[in-house]
Amino acid sequence: MGTVYIDDHRPLGRINKDIYGQFSEHLGRCIYGGLWVGPDSDIPNTNGLRNDVVTALKDIQVPVLRWPGGCFADEYHWQDGIGPNSQRKTMVNNNWGGVTENNHFGTHEYFELLQQIGAAAYINGNVGSGTVQEMQEWVEYMTMNGTSPMADLRAKNGHPDPWPVKYFGVGNESWGCGGNMRPEYYADLYRRYQTFVRNYDPAHPLTKIACGPSNDDYHWTDEVMKIAGHYLDGISLHHYALPSITWSGKKGAALSFPEQEWVSLMQSANEMEELITRHSAIMDKYDPDKKKSLVVDEWGSWYDVEPGTNPGFLYQQNTIRDACVAALTLHIFQHHVDRVHLANIAQMVNVLQAMILTDGAKMIKTPTYYVFKMFLDHQDATALNTQDDLPDTVTTSVSKTDKGYLLSLVNYGLTAAEEVRYAFQTHTVTAAQGEILHSTTMDAHNDFEAPDVVQPEAMTAGLTHDAHQVTVTIPPMSVVTVHVQ
Ligand code: AHR
Repeated sequence: MGTVYIDDHRPLGRINKDIYGQFSEHLGRCIYGGLWVGPDSDIPNTNGLRNDVVTALKDIQVPVLRWPGGCFADEYHWQDGIGPNSQRKTMVNNNWGGVTENNHFGTHEYFELLQQIGAAAYINGNVGSGTVQEMQEWVEYMTMNGTSPMADLRAKNGHPDPWPVKYFGVGNESWGCGGNMRPEYYADLYRRYQTFVRNYDPAHPLTKIACGPSNDDYHWTDEVMKIAGHYLDGISLHHYALPSITWSGKKGAALSFPEQEWVSLMQSANEMEELITRHSAIMDKYDPDKKKSLVVDEWGSWYDVEPGTNPGFLYQQNTIRDACVAALTLHIFQHHVDRVHLANIAQMVNVLQAMILTDGAKMIKTPTYYVFKMFLDHQDATALNTQDDLPDTVTTSVSKTDKGYLLSLVNYGLTAAEEVRYAFQTHTVTAAQGEILHSTTMDAHNDFEAPDVVQPEAMTAGLTHDAHQVTVTIPPMSVVTVHVQ
């Protein structure tokens, strides 16, 4: 039994809906096959984008989508991906399987995707192998209104109007695949490149994001904030949850894993709390008013690829274990609304902790997808301050929405159900409706033969309320949301 005391007088702050952002890289079958099939495909599509996938994504109201990478971003030359397909240059996707990239999905197709799913743009520019001029011209191509060489080229390619770009990342993992730089060197380069990332639309200034640390590289954060902090709006953080302790060797399987790997994965996912706390503390030194964001633009679980699939494609199944990782991580973000204003789970389709898996014309929604759906009303709600004495395996977040309150909780324990009492300080409870995502086996998942094994159900038992409190009995391996009026 644990109690969550809800202090509705002391809100933590707005939950920026962009923490529910996603990431789509030119990697494996994320873009090609997963999102883009081309207008001539037999798979039903609109302007080349799969109708089934777009419909599913609209239902989870993806607020923002990062593209084109990832490591791919620092080898991407945007001019290769515009104009008639027959004239688009091909390249080798060196980071991801060495396959040929035909550049049929480029800037115009990305904005078509955003328009279809209703998401905002987060473009990641190329610092590793691109020039300042190339980056400047891309921003001009996308956002310049009126007449200019790049605006004219965009119009010639069929889009006279500029597109809004909300976020612009200057390099990706510049300490690794993005150029193996030292923080001092990157920070100087950042200052230079960002100078030419101009705001062509003063009404919608770009939010500029610098490459931040991997995991616990606190030195990187300190140096970049010290040298370039004045010139950035956000600094990224990448942290993946792995069942094995290190990156070397095998990470562990997505399915049929031992109990110990459930436990170690949850530990790894929970490290996000310390990472955010400590990187934020460094940012506080340079930005005490918390104007700059810590942008967790890559997070999620990472396993060995599914047997028989291309190791460079990072295709993995997704289970109730991943749903628990998603829920506990989103809770951590919601506890840090003062610093974390944008996050992007990796990745959207067919790669790592995906929302959606496809196989030819078939498509399934993963348990992670359903967490994003169940948490929808947290987007742009007000996170409330809570005190609790919850068991170690249970985490929660409470928000005030325009319809009432949303309580979300996860029990990532393997054996015990937990009773959780939510005590409201002032609110008089009149109704409570619950939804549960649950399984009794650790690797329960959806696949193309059985697509609906794990999906949310209305809670018909284990949920009671009186005027001052709501009590939930949450089984092990479960995610629950309760809408309270
Ligand atoms: O998401 C897969 C890869 O993980 C990204 O390309 C890279 O930025 C990170 O190392």
